[in-house]
Formats: sequence, structure tokens, C-alpha cells
Amino acid sequence: MSDVVKKDFLLLCKEAESCVKCPKLAEKKAVLSLLNGSLSPVVFFIAEAPGRKGADRTRRPFYGDQSGDNFQLLIDSIGLKREEIFITNAVLCSPRSESGANRKPSKSEIKNCSEFLKRQIELMNPKIIATLGSTALEALKYIENHEFTLKTHVGKILDWNGRKLIPLYHPSPQVVISVRSLEKQMEDFMKLRRAIEVILKRAL
Ligand code: URA
Repeated sequence: MSDVVKKDFLLLCKEAESCVKCPKLAEKKAVLSLLNGSLSPVVFFIAEAPGRKGADRTRRPFYGDQSGDNFQLLIDSIGLKREEIFITNAVLCSPRSESGANRKPSKSEIKNCSEFLKRQIELMNPKIIATLGSTALEALKYIENHEFTLKTHVGKILDWNGRKLIPLYHPSPQVVISVRSLEKQMEDFMKLRRAIEVILKRAL
């Protein structure tokens, strides 16, 4: 990774830290730093938003909660290491309900944060992007429109914005229990592994 990329990334992190575009998230601090991973990633992962028990507390996406443990299991299953990937979220701040529980980000929050997502992608210029869940897939539409849906396109290698895009399910316990089991998600991740081998000509 070049010093220029690192310098620009740190500037972007500072901007995100002071962003107050979303009224309900103005008090929250964006989870974006060198803890998000490699700036020349093998795969650029996009999830939904920092979780209360996970990234919002540990400042590291998918770390410290059950979603993080499931994600670790999935990348382990294809031999991918945290140090070689970058993980970000469609919305960089942690959206909460009145009671303090995690809530899904709103459309306007996703749209507001899409400028940061776009700049992260442009800066790191990844060949392979993997979205985790439908929020991340939707967020990409604000950067360049597409018609992909998780149901139809899960595990497919798609062309998007001059890159390869692979939609995957979100590894949260709710999704694992009622939508896509961990076993099924492991099969989806095998397709990601194959894509890495074919596109980057790199064995895992
Ligand atoms: N942690 C994250 O960083 N993102 C999610 O979408 C869920 C948990």
C-alpha cells in the first residue's frame, strides 16, 4: 500500500469522524480507521452498520459480537485472513432505536454515507467487492445503479462499476437462524474463494 493511499485514507477517516449529516447519528462516531483492515485488500467487504456489542464498541467491524464470530468462521473456512481484507459498512455510524437496540439504517442514512463508501472504494481500488446482506447491496446503487438482488445473485460473480461484485448474505445470528444457515453461507463463501483464485490468480 502506498503512502499516498494511507495519507488520503486517514484524511477520509477524519472527515467521517466529524460528519454530522444524519440527524439521528450526529452523536455517533464513524467506525473507519486502519483497524478496518488492509488498504490493498484481496477482498473489500461491505456490511450493514456497526453493531452495538461489536464494532461500535471495539471500533473494528465484525469484532466482538456473534456476527463477528460467524464472519470469522466464514473467512477461516476459505483460508482468508483479516490482515488481507478490508471490512467497512454501508453506514459508518451505529444506528439505534429509542431503546438503544441496533436498528436497520434508514434510506437517507445509507444515501448520506454512500459518498464515504464511494471514496473508500476509489481509494483502495479493489478488484473484488463482496457485499454482506441486502443493505450493502442497496448502498452500491447510490454509487452506480444495478438491478442485482441477494436472492437471485448470491454467490455470483457480477460486473459492477469496473469491478467484480459478489453478493453474500449477512452473517448475523438472525440471518443465520431464519434466512441462510452458516452451512449454506460457507457454500457461498466457496464461490468467493473460487473468484479470488480466478480473478486474482491466487490460491488460498
Ligand atoms: N458489525 C459490523 O461491523 N457490521 C455489521 O453489519 C454487523 C456487525
